[in-house]
Amino acid sequence: MARIPDAFIDDLLARTDIVEVVGARVPLKKQGKEYAARCPFHDERSASFTVSPTKQFYHCFGCGAHGTAISFLINYDRLEFLDAVDELARRAGMEVPREAVQHQQNQDSRDLYAVLDASARFFQRQLAGSDKARAYLEARGVDEATRTLFGIGYAPDGYSALKDALGSDARRIQLLERGGMFSRNERGHVYDKFRDRVMFPIADRRGRTIAFGGRVLDKQDGPKYLNSPETPLFHKGRELYGLWQVRQVNQKIDRLVVVEGYMDVVSLFQFGVTCAVATLGTATTPDHAELLFRNAADVYFCFDGDAAGQRAGWRALESVLPRMKDGRQALFLFLPNGEDPDSIVRKEGAEGFAARLAQATPLSQFFFDELSKEINLGTLDGKARLAEKAKPLLAQIPDGAFGDLMRAQLTRITGVGANPPPAPRRVPPRSTARGPQQRPSLVRSAIVRVLHAPSLALDVPTPYTFAGLRQPGVELLIELLDIIRTRPDITPGALLEHFAEREELPALQQLMIQDLPGEEPAWRQELHDAVIQLEKQTLQQRLDQLLAKQRAQGLDETDKYELRELLKIRAGGH
Ligand code: UTP
Ligand code: MN
Repeated sequence: MARIPDAFIDDLLARTDIVEVVGARVPLKKQGKEYAARCPFHDERSASFTVSPTKQFYHCFGCGAHGTAISFLINYDRLEFLDAVDELARRAGMEVPREAVQHQQNQDSRDLYAVLDASARFFQRQLAGSDKARAYLEARGVDEATRTLFGIGYAPDGYSALKDALGSDARRIQLLERGGMFSRNERGHVYDKFRDRVMFPIADRRGRTIAFGGRVLDKQDGPKYLNSPETPLFHKGRELYGLWQVRQVNQKIDRLVVVEGYMDVVSLFQFGVTCAVATLGTATTPDHAELLFRNAADVYFCFDGDAAGQRAGWRALESVLPRMKDGRQALFLFLPNGEDPDSIVRKEGAEGFAARLAQATPLSQFFFDELSKEINLGTLDGKARLAEKAKPLLAQIPDGAFGDLMRAQLTRITGVGANPPPAPRRVPPRSTARGPQQRPSLVRSAIVRVLHAPSLALDVPTPYTFAGLRQPGVELLIELLDIIRTRPDITPGALLEHFAEREELPALQQLMIQDLPGEEPAWRQELHDAVIQLEKQTLQQRLDQLLAKQRAQGLDETDKYELRELLKIRAGGH
């Protein structure tokens, strides 16, 4: 949230009622203290979607979608962050601080987006003017509507078409180069990188062009596909070709199909399979996996049927294992040799392709089939080897039913349990909602309570005597307490918004949607108790330090005085 002042977002959320915002778009039913509905983000018959007026937060128990009024507009109306803020501000009769808006996008990256956008439009104009390029797309059966949706263009032959058209001054040439549009020879001469190629602009999550893929018209002409290099805007391990189009065309995304090529995505779309995305000539990365599951609960990975396809499939599996939270599904589809999704959908249509998806191999099956290859499961030795190979992989699956099923399956196949043994591990069912940590730490339990009822933070005396405690989460707890001190009326949802761009966000969201037993008075007491314990631990930590110093080098007078005082406090505290 570095862009618009936090204080403005706080005010905005304070003057917005999430129940009204959601209620205007989804029919809500009152249910106790909350409102419920069928989730607008995934298909369901029951009502797992809840909106909490006290937390100013929505959450779906089915698909895990959750957030504030801002994130609801981003996801439901498909608005950009700034547009969502604008929309809420308009409703609340507030003025978005314009200076902040102007300031937030640094000028350089804005200019970079601008030249890439201009390049895409230049290539589109060139396509219109090139019989040869249009004939190529014609021959490949890419129709007009699809060309438009994907912004397909043509980079003319020669070494300076783009440079001549857009590089009107030194600064623009420099921007085009930073955007990856030029190559440079040994003598430092700059020339067009993409020449005589069909151009596929790669869009980011907001639909802005950030890179290109270019395909040769003629097979002999160098590499078949040339992609933009990594640039300040483009990191290919994080982008998925086609995702923006999928999000444009579908109100709800039930599943995504990951394919290998640009043309696969384009053809699938044209034939009505509007849920395909492609990795850009790389293996599926963990970033991809995260992005995929953030957009859809079911993800299909589609590969060639050959050995390379199997290897690519396995790498995709490895990237999704740590993300297999309950409710998510990964499936693998291997196509007949020599075919790709483009050729299949042209032969068999959307229905044929859908029928193949319906036959896709679930992750669990692919997992055990692959691992069992070259292992003789008829022998004890083979079973032990399988168990050995499977365990470290299974350990990566997040806590939950899916992981349990996978471990049970391993036991069924090998007779060997996956560690850790299931019985003592599964403490009360609620622990699954707590994320990776097994036993909630004091810090964590304090954070949970502050998240659920921020005003409790006002009871915690300052200065925070536990600030020096070396335990994970202490700094985060203090940051939360400080935010609340400056905004005593802040709602849980608005509090989370302060962490919108922080790596702690997912953990905080998990804590927030956790069903915390009891009510505010009990939480107040529990927070109080936790703080007392933290203070004691801080005291103990300092005592330990002094005692260690005493052993190692002896104490000076101040140390001795401090030690005596600490011992007194500790004695008194009990
Ligand atoms: P393929 O070679 O399977 O091509 O590459 P394709 O998608 O079937 O392309 P068409 O149908 O012949 O046009 C799959 C993907 O691998 C990357 C591209 O992203 C391509 O879409 N690739 C391929 C490259 O980056 N460079 C290459 O030289 C070839
Ligand atoms: Mn192809």
